[in-house]
Amino acid sequence: MDLLEFVRGCTFDDFLLTPQCGVLPRRDPHLVDLSARFSRRIVLRRPIVSANMDTVTRAAMAIVLAEEGGLGIVDRGFRSGDIGPQIAEIATVKRTQHGVIADPHSIAETQTVDEARRLMMRTRVGTLAVVDDHRRLRGLLTERDVRFVPAGVAVEARMTPRARLVVHEGPVALPDAERIMVERKVKKLPLVAADGTLIGLITAKDLIKQARHPFATRDGRGRLRVGAAVGATGDYLERAVEVVRAGADVIVIDIAHGHSLVMERALRDVRSRCPDVDIVAGNVATGEGARFLLDRGADAIKVGIGPGGGCSTRLTTNFGVPQVEALVRCRQAIGEAVPLIADGGIRRDGALAQALLFGGDTVMLGSAFAGTDEAPGEIVQKSVVVPESQKVVQVPFKVFRGMASIGAVRDRLDIEDSEPGEVEAIGAEGIEVSVPARGSARTVIHDMLKHLCSAISYGGATSLAELQRSFQADPARYLVKLSGAGRTESFQR
Ligand code: XMP
Repeated sequence: MDLLEFVRGCTFDDFLLTPQCGVLPRRDPHLVDLSARFSRRIVLRRPIVSANMDTVTRAAMAIVLAEEGGLGIVDRGFRSGDIGPQIAEIATVKRTQHGVIADPHSIAETQTVDEARRLMMRTRVGTLAVVDDHRRLRGLLTERDVRFVPAGVAVEARMTPRARLVVHEGPVALPDAERIMVERKVKKLPLVAADGTLIGLITAKDLIKQARHPFATRDGRGRLRVGAAVGATGDYLERAVEVVRAGADVIVIDIAHGHSLVMERALRDVRSRCPDVDIVAGNVATGEGARFLLDRGADAIKVGIGPGGGCSTRLTTNFGVPQVEALVRCRQAIGEAVPLIADGGIRRDGALAQALLFGGDTVMLGSAFAGTDEAPGEIVQKSVVVPESQKVVQVPFKVFRGMASIGAVRDRLDIEDSEPGEVEAIGAEGIEVSVPARGSARTVIHDMLKHLCSAISYGGATSLAELQRSFQADPARYLVKLSGAGRTESFQR
């Protein structure tokens, strides 16, 4: 079968998949391998990424995504040159969980309990390492040690001295640390070098958090991973350097038309300043576009021109490629060289499975997450007429907007510095809509994963990778192209 010819002009709702003989014993996301390559060096246990949009991904969303095994990309929807707010979001995610705290907050034994209390409050940390001038461990000081103690008392008088602590010399694997802490009945395990210098701290609280989220996406230090978006003009280079310094695990150079000379320059510049971090580039929708980004060193490619729920690019420019055709074109052009991110247009969980079969290694979702508690923005009550009874009821909604919508662009522009004409005629390529509020993103993700496991079962496979392999090897076995009536029967409810 010539897959590209078969899918020309088509998108998700044009197809069903033929059920195969089921071999999966249980459709349980805890038991089915759903892992996927996100970029050259990052593997996710769940193939789900939240979109870098200012009504979708800030720290709260990125934390849930990473805890659940996916990844959040914090948007760049802040004013040009104003990098601090994006850094703060990245830092919040990186502070949420630790395996080993590599650089614990510390205090000297000669300082006062009052100073310790202020440091604890400012850093929101409950345990300080007490160190000497050479950063050698002298003791630990906890919130409890300083409670109700007069301000001027010295730290030395209240700390638990090193001699009474359980201390580990050298680095340690987390399971070994856990064993030591259980055996010795301690909640904190400081790590020191041979000369007594403090090199890390492990806390029971962090180990418990790690165990609670067994599929979480973590970096080498046990912290949650997070991505950060930058543009290709303006402050992009400074922003890229700063987000990496703040701990971002991947940079996403995200512009509407990624197959372009501005992207070429941005990729080259960001790569030269941030050589050690994966760089995702996009968006493209053609084989030539994907090849262009691959040849210029992208570590993953974001695919999708105009399928998104907040997009109006196709309406305003008439350019774009139906998303299934775009995915097939890109996959055929670059093979397995780097992963593809299927970005936009996934409005039902069935389309999520399709996106992963037609070429996406992972999927990026915007509108699907926009109504959740973790998405930025307030809930607004709107009056809605119930068709059956004609009664008016109040329904909670949240705002979702394309990043090229008038509102989003205006918020990014520094209105005082812009030309009046610039503010009036923005040339928007996005829209603003309200989406129903739908509870926690965690529940939405769990639902998606269950449905994905069911799709794997219907597809006759035991893992996501196996289903992708058997689809790619013989797409004709799976693909049903729908008639108008078939589509109505399938998707209209
Ligand atoms: P969904 O369908 O999941 O898509 O909401 C999310 C993706 O939509 C893209 N996006 C835009 N595309 N104009 C566009 O043409 C816009 O204003 C816009 N804002 C977001 C983006 O790729 C996102 O991940």
